Amino acid sequence: MIYTKFQELVGTKYPIIQAGMGPYSTTDLCIAVAKEGALGLISTIGMTAGGASSAAPEAAQEIFGKGRPGVIIKRVIQYVYDHLKDYPDAKFGVNIPVATDFIYAARSLMKGAIEILKENPEMQEKLKVIVTSAGDPLPWAIDAVSKGAKKARIAIKEKLPHITWCHVVPNVRGAKRAEKAGADIVIASGREGGAHCAWRDVSSMVLLPEVVKNVSKLVVGAGGFADGASLAAALALGAAGVQMGTRFIATQEADFQEMWKEALVKRAETDTLIARGLFGPMRFLRNDMSLKVVDETISDASNLFRGIPCPSNDKIMRIEMQGLEKLIEENEDESIILGGVVTGRIHSIPTVKELLESIMSEAEQIISNLPSYIKKEELVEIEK
Ligand SMILES: Cc1cc2nc3c(=O)[nH]c(=O)nc-3n(C[C@H](O)[C@H](O)[C@H](O)COP(=O)(O)O)c2cc1C
Repeated sequence: MIYTKFQELVGTKYPIIQAGMGPYSTTDLCIAVAKEGALGLISTIGMTAGGASSAAPEAAQEIFGKGRPGVIIKRVIQYVYDHLKDYPDAKFGVNIPVATDFIYAARSLMKGAIEILKENPEMQEKLKVIVTSAGDPLPWAIDAVSKGAKKARIAIKEKLPHITWCHVVPNVRGAKRAEKAGADIVIASGREGGAHCAWRDVSSMVLLPEVVKNVSKLVVGAGGFADGASLAAALALGAAGVQMGTRFIATQEADFQEMWKEALVKRAETDTLIARGLFGPMRFLRNDMSLKVVDETISDASNLFRGIPCPSNDKIMRIEMQGLEKLIEENEDESIILGGVVTGRIHSIPTVKELLESIMSEAEQIISNLPSYIKKEELVEIEK
């Protein structure tokens, strides 16, 4: 049985996180994942527009309702908690992107999460983790806030000492900042992952072991993980667990359109591309719509590759909004569909339980077979 420091710290049965995947709802997915022993995450980007994206299934729109992000997050946390109350081992968390573009929404979301946990201390047994992403963790550190730093936000660990704070990073520099900020876990996210990614091209195979070497915090790998082989590889590279986004979309319980799930099963590993998303580069499944985004991106490519922020591009915004709307019609060519390179390793749409059990048993089998690859000393002796 695999048991890492991640399971010890967070209290889950498995060392696996279901990634935050805004602007979509992952409410039902989070509940299913938490019930089956991994860490489920509530996604919040959709809440920043005052309600669920119109591309979200009707059920998600109802759960979110309307209102400020801080109000919606409380409603969704309550909903998830109510569904997990009777599952003593189930644990969940929230993902709050802290990009500068989102900063007011991020504050509102953080305040909402803090408020509901203070009002309902019993929830602290289940809501164990806050995952921040897409921005600088330092302004959310206790030090930054107590020193009155200009950009100080809310000191996460001061307000919620029981919380495990994870921060997602795309490079070693970001990992060191997360450590300095006092995050408990660094999630190292390689460029093969779905949706937002860095322009700078660092894959999980390079990023993960280098982050492990450079920080003393627990590290979780993200980007390209899907099965027992990749979990075993992450552990071998020094991680305490993995975060998976794309693989979880293609599960029975995921609150994503059937067309999206089936598209992930059909695509090969060569069928994604990176182009400019609403808030920075994103990895899309290759189709007519994402190729249109590429055409628009190319006009700004030089600045983008230099990491220079580009002015908002109304045309890209329009294509992406249209593509999101087409999701409702389940139109595969005209929808904007996000997904990682790992789509090429997804061949079925299992239940969350089936997926998690197969990942764990495959990883355990691979790890226990590894010693057989090492030539035994006595054999070497005989050969001599
Ligand atoms: C549809 C989709 C939406 C995503 N939205 C978010 C988000 O709101 N916040 C975030 O931190 N990461 C987001 N991500 C990235 C995931 O959290 C995760 O790190 C990534 O999916 C891992 O790579 P994988 O797709 O290869 O598993 C998203 C990924 C996908 C596929």
